[in-house]
Amino acid sequence: MNDKHKQIRTVNVTRYVTPLREGGSLPAITEADDDFLYVLKFRGAGQGVKALIAELIGGEIARALGLKVPEIVFARLDESYGRTEPDEEIQDLLKASIGLNLANHYLSGSITFDPTTTVVEPGPASIIVWLDSLLTNVDRTARNTNMLMWYRELWLIDHGASLYFHHTWDNWKAFATRPFEQIKDHVLLPQASEIEQADITGKSILTASKLKSIISLIPDVWLSNEAQGTPEEQREVYYQFLNTRLAASEVFIKAALHARQAII
Ligand SMILES: Nc1ncnc2c1ncn2[C@@H]1O[C@H](COP(=O)(O)OP(=O)(O)O)[C@@H](O)[C@H]1O
Ligand SMILES: [Mg+2]
Repeated sequence: MNDKHKQIRTVNVTRYVTPLREGGSLPAITEADDDFLYVLKFRGAGQGVKALIAELIGGEIARALGLKVPEIVFARLDESYGRTEPDEEIQDLLKASIGLNLANHYLSGSITFDPTTTVVEPGPASIIVWLDSLLTNVDRTARNTNMLMWYRELWLIDHGASLYFHHTWDNWKAFATRPFEQIKDHVLLPQASEIEQADITGKSILTASKLKSIISLIPDVWLSNEAQGTPEEQREVYYQFLNTRLAASEVFIKAALHARQAII
């Protein structure tokens, strides 16, 4: 098996089209120099580059598991941005985001996944529940599914709240072996009847070299907080966190099975 992860393209933002006001992070639809539209996640937004790192790692792990995720690219924003933006809040956000941001290919015409009208099969539902337990992703609830339907297929977006250990950083070891109790609110938990099978599949895909190649995608400029070590040391922490969590997956699987028993 080829464990080398594909590279991430870099585009230059050419136009701010419109803000997406749903979440707190003020993402926006933007156009880039390849003429495609993207949903841009700004490094200058509330959670800063950590949300971008979570988005990148979470999204690429989901893709490696065979789930559909819009293409992720690095999006360069240059200094000329924001000067002509009339909205002050957006102007500040643009100014604070000069440099390398993250963007997702915009799925034009997609609609928000609605669990009351679309049924997800046990296989994919279980993989998604397993993924979010691994990533400690709190953002896949019935109220806020962070999934889109596009041409009748299910697409995953918004992994920015994953890996929350990185907001405290030093305590990563303890976080890695913790169950993920918030899984009780996962929108697909009722359908996830094959979590143990998902664990076997997930572990067979997420080999050490696969994880390392995904983590190697994090740009140095997003790892500039020297208090956390050099960029290479920080990547090692992400790797150790995920690898430890995988090795102890029975902990989060038990929590998910338990939460499922309570609702079905
Ligand atoms: N790739 C995409 N294609 C189409 N719409 C998107 C895409 N990414 C996000 N959106 C829309 O924008 C909203 C906000 O994006 P999201 O990534 O969830 O950021 P946040 O919740 O942090 O604001 C989503 O709920 C969805 O409606
Ligand atoms: Mg969201």
